[in-house]
Amino acid sequence: MGRITAQRRRGPARPAAVKVADVTARLVVLVSGAGTNLQALLDACADDSYGAAVAAVGADRTGIEGLARARRAGLPVFTHRVADHPTRADWDRALARSCERYEPDLVISAGFMKLVGQDFLGRFAGRVVNTHPSLLPAFAGMHAVRDALGYGVKVTGCTVFLVDAGTDTGPVIAQAAVPVREDDDVASLHERIKVTERALLVDTVGRMVRGGWTVRGRAVRVGRTPRAGGTVQAGRTVQAGRTVQAGRGGTVQAGRTVQAGREDAAVARRAGQG
Ligand code: GRF
Repeated sequence: MGRITAQRRRGPARPAAVKVADVTARLVVLVSGAGTNLQALLDACADDSYGAAVAAVGADRTGIEGLARARRAGLPVFTHRVADHPTRADWDRALARSCERYEPDLVISAGFMKLVGQDFLGRFAGRVVNTHPSLLPAFAGMHAVRDALGYGVKVTGCTVFLVDAGTDTGPVIAQAAVPVREDDDVASLHERIKVTERALLVDTVGRMVRGGWTVRGRAVRVGRTPRAGGTVQAGRTVQAGRTVQAGRGGTVQAGRTVQAGREDAAVARRAGQG
């Protein structure tokens, strides 16, 4: 992973072009159920130009199809059930530690039905992406589809957002609308939302890892290349004609990622810098 290639186009007048997708971001995906969103990501990652690879899959329960999909794909898996830990904080720490082992650039909560806590966010804040089956802030929580149907809305949809300490309250990265049909029940509506949701998640994660992103207040912008020395909240950036990876949300300086005053060696190494 993480090979960097600068390709020069033919012709003297043209500037060097950088193949951004040659740097592969590492994803850890968390699941609780069927794992169709995970599968969509796995399918997308099969194409090198997508720019990401799933490094591991985690779950909060055993015996789910999401884990079976991961095993079939030959991926390492880990499971932490809340009930197996003395406290919720212990569970949160264990989950964070397991994720950390795989050095993710992004953690994707893809149908993961647990809220992560302080410890987890302390390690991964700004790099945890969640998907939700409603147009947030409408219908946050566990029963988004049922609640939307019960309210009688004519249009609902899905939201991909950055996780913060609240319940479905983080900055919105992308949304897509899904019309509600008169004969919809919870199952039929959720199934249609999930078709749109999978495409939205795959598209959004791909754009994030290939183009990076910035957050100002609640406004998330994906795919903007920061100026030299600028702050990057991103999967990677292009600087001085080279592609570097800035997966730890630090500041890119001379092709290395520096965060809180220390160089992030893992990121620099994967970016081919060290
Ligand atoms: C998705 O609609 C997700 O937003 C919700 O649960 C569903 C998970 O689906 N929290 P899957 O497990 O990815 O098939």
